[in-house]
Amino acid sequence: MNEQNEPMVRFFSLTVLPFVKEILAEELWMPPSRQLVADEICEAVHDRAQVLLDGESGAGKTCILRAIRMRLPQEGYRLTYCHNATLGRRDFYRQLCVALGLAPCATAAAVFYAVSTHIESLSRDRIHPVFLLDEAHMLHQDTLDHLHILLNYEWDSRALLSLILVGLPELRDRLELRKNRSLYSRIERRISIKPLTANDTHEYVRMRLRRAGCDRELFADEALQLLHEAAESSLRNVDRLATAALRMAARHKKKRVERDMMANVVGENQAEH
Ligand SMILES: Nc1ncnc2c1ncn2[C@@H]1O[C@H](COP(=O)(O)OP(=O)(O)OP(=O)(O)O)[C@@H](O)[C@H]1O
Ligand SMILES: [Mg+2]
Repeated sequence: MNEQNEPMVRFFSLTVLPFVKEILAEELWMPPSRQLVADEICEAVHDRAQVLLDGESGAGKTCILRAIRMRLPQEGYRLTYCHNATLGRRDFYRQLCVALGLAPCATAAAVFYAVSTHIESLSRDRIHPVFLLDEAHMLHQDTLDHLHILLNYEWDSRALLSLILVGLPELRDRLELRKNRSLYSRIERRISIKPLTANDTHEYVRMRLRRAGCDRELFADEALQLLHEAAESSLRNVDRLATAALRMAARHKKKRVERDMMANVVGENQAEH
């Protein structure tokens, strides 16, 4: 359905659906706490360091990567984004090859050789490759076992690339295991996305509504508070619950979501899960 024909969009005179994942990188919600995370990662990449970014599902990790892509200067960096972390070691290296524009090779050793020579030539051209590995909590152990080798180059005097490992909090738990210490000890920056404060959630909702052409308060303060608690620091949950609440309000011809209506939506949502 065309967004403008959505009853909720029409009822609230919005320009678009407010809580959707299709959001431009330059329009992301980046309060100072998130700017800081993005700055830290950019700084680490600038220093050719390795990064771990962890946070709960829906906290906004992948969106922060999008913000970083926009900030890093095009010249001097080659960003490669990979979110298919479930691959075994050989397929993982093949994918890295493809992402770097190289012909995939047959064996892990050949791929490793191709990747390292390519990266060396980038380095001669003063281009630093940055490999963003999303959903990294799903990496196979044999891939994880091998990753530190990419970070140990020329007698461990430099890293071939900046590795940004992004995943759920269990990724950090896995990396902390003794068997992963060769990799973990080389990851200098370890950043967690902090839980949302009530104020964060309120600001986020207002920002999303503003982007959809609405400056009015569509949620009563108490409803927002309830939304904040139910979302458990996941912006994806905020999106889903806020959308459901606005749809319900439009169906009932209410111009504002009050606490009771939000409680209904939260209750229905819990029943579904
Ligand atoms: N900075 C942001 N600005 C605007 N919307 C955001 C932002 N961060 C997250 N969102 C919203 O929350 C949704 C989930 O964010 P994202 O996909 O980045 O979470 P995630 O932490 O990567 O989750 P997962 O661990 O499940 O992959 C996005 O689709 C978007 O709608
Ligand atoms: Mg993600």
